[in-house]
Amino acid sequence: MEQFVIKGGKPLYGTVRVQGAKNSALPILAAALLAGGVHEIRDVPRLSDIFVMGEILKALGVKVKKDGNTVGLETTTLKSSCIPEVLMRQMRSSIFLMGPLLSRLQEVSLTRPGGCDIGARPIDLHLKGLASLGATVEEKDGVIHCFARKLTGADIFLELPSVGATENIMMAAVRAEGTTVIRNAAREPEIVDLQRFLNRMGADVQGAGSRIIRIRGVKQLQPVSYEVIPDRIAAGTLVVATAMTGGEVLLTHVVKEHMESTLSLIEKTGAELRSEGDALWVRGPSQLQAVGNVVTKPYPGFPTDMQPQMMALLSLAKGENSIFESVFEGRFKHVQELIRMGADLSTVENRVEIRGVPQLMGHTVEATDLRAGAALVVAGLAASGTTLVKGLSHIDRGYEGLDTTLLQLGGQIQRCSSRVASG
Ligand code: UD1
Repeated sequence: MEQFVIKGGKPLYGTVRVQGAKNSALPILAAALLAGGVHEIRDVPRLSDIFVMGEILKALGVKVKKDGNTVGLETTTLKSSCIPEVLMRQMRSSIFLMGPLLSRLQEVSLTRPGGCDIGARPIDLHLKGLASLGATVEEKDGVIHCFARKLTGADIFLELPSVGATENIMMAAVRAEGTTVIRNAAREPEIVDLQRFLNRMGADVQGAGSRIIRIRGVKQLQPVSYEVIPDRIAAGTLVVATAMTGGEVLLTHVVKEHMESTLSLIEKTGAELRSEGDALWVRGPSQLQAVGNVVTKPYPGFPTDMQPQMMALLSLAKGENSIFESVFEGRFKHVQELIRMGADLSTVENRVEIRGVPQLMGHTVEATDLRAGAALVVAGLAASGTTLVKGLSHIDRGYEGLDTTLLQLGGQIQRCSSRVASG
């Protein structure tokens, strides 16, 4: 088992390019199934969720070729509509292969994704949406079988603006007969990116980024070459790490407009931010200040995927803050770990009260999910002494070489096998 050994207290300095967005690349790789032919997807981050998506696509018959951050897909050979259980268990996002497979092969079978470390993750909105387009959904012994001779456009209201359900329905609807309208759609930048990708293939999708998305079904789509947007959460994590260590970093390959809620909070803590083009300059303050109450919300609100990192940051802010998690239940597994590092936190249901402390202290901590892991890493960089972060498989799901990136910025972080680290 590997772990990070972090010697904290060193400010981050330097320039780094932000990776492509995991949450754009995953649905786009799935959407490529909609058009038979050779696709080229660029700036795909090299991380384990993408690797699993590649393995699933191969298991379905697709030829996958990776060259650095470019993924080539030959999708004409797609033959199976059955997502292997062992791969399905490794990545919940495989759920959004449903829409493309249903559209291309008229059926899809997969096992129900379980709950995960950030709480219950139901898929009712995905299934209801596909059923509205005319699919029959059957479930037996945990296996979902979904089939439709023909998909037909429908008017669909999402009770919650689910990102995955919006994407799944968009992908199923692009080749359906007639027009589909998704109301109360998720508005995340990754939805806009998916719309751009689908339209590049010849689809007719309008409205992504607003609450209403209209999809006019088309008969045929063509393969394309496409570059995914920068990862706003990976960028936000680096901004937090810079602010917490009192460093000075220039991030390139950033879309600042995608990060407004995160950046405005970080600015309130006293960090200085400046941007030009796709570059974002950050300088941490000598003392972080409190910002008050933070509430996670669907985009354009403050993202739940930045909540753990923001909690680590506010642990060092002078004064009192609170974070209310409104998107996922039970996304507070990092709280106990931050407390081990000296943070003064108390949880009441979905709210964490944060009383700033002058210093965090190195400790052995365990990442239980992706962003919780990122929070522990940034806390370790700012803490005094040595922090050991275990559970790297979670962090590797979403960050392309987080340790390498931080090393490049002067962070003292090493990936070691547990035996070496403790020996
Ligand atoms: C996506 C992101 C994830 C992010 C999340 C919220 C990807 C690959 N992952 O996840 O990083 O944390 O958006 O921004 O893009 N819900 C239901 N029924 C459903 C689907 C969702 O009740 O059928 C609920 C969820 O339990 C949650 C809320 O809707 O409370 C939002 O979830 P959703 O937007 O679907 O998240 P994901 O698409 O899974």
